[in-house]
Amino acid sequence: MVTGRPLLTEEQIRVRVKELADRINSDYKGKEILAIGVLKGAFMFFSDLVKQIKVPLTVDFIVSSSYEDTATTGNVNIHLDTRKPVTGKDVLIIEDIIDTGISLNYIKERLLQKSPNTLKICVFMDKKERRLVDVDVDYTGFEIPDVFVVGYGTDYNDNFRNLPYVANLDKPKEVLK
Ligand code: IMP
Ligand code: MG
Repeated sequence: MVTGRPLLTEEQIRVRVKELADRINSDYKGKEILAIGVLKGAFMFFSDLVKQIKVPLTVDFIVSSSYEDTATTGNVNIHLDTRKPVTGKDVLIIEDIIDTGISLNYIKERLLQKSPNTLKICVFMDKKERRLVDVDVDYTGFEIPDVFVVGYGTDYNDNFRNLPYVANLDKPKEVLK
């Protein structure tokens, strides 16, 4: 079940998304951003964030998965790849959560092969203590503890993505691996 008290409230999220966008606006002054959202998890964060970005921006998406229930499979599946050219672009990957780092590392390396001008990563939540692969994250919304979360785009078996806040999914610790 989803516990009653949000881990991140709508108000906390709103304030933090604006702060991230302000930093991005200042860092990318004079540039154009190719924002690549990692679906499905990033859809809500992606749309809230890009609404606050004032520099010229185009969007593209990757659909990937690595989770079953509440554990990572360690394999990253790309179900749908980007369509816009990446070469020479200032790419900003936008993702819901970084956990082990396996997914983002895979997606980052894959995009680097297409020779972008720059490539940065923006994540909404970071479970730092779970990291298995080192990935440099340029913009982080919130560092969160090692709990399974749902809402604001993140899911448990595709459920709860529509919650406007982030909640802790109350599952026994042993299934979190
Ligand atoms: P990583 O490859 O272990 O870093 O996992 C990244 C992906 O796993 C994220 O993009 C999420 O889709 C998913 N994920 C990791 N932790 C959670 C969680 O607590 N709730 C929902 N999805 C999660
Ligand atoms: Mg994701």
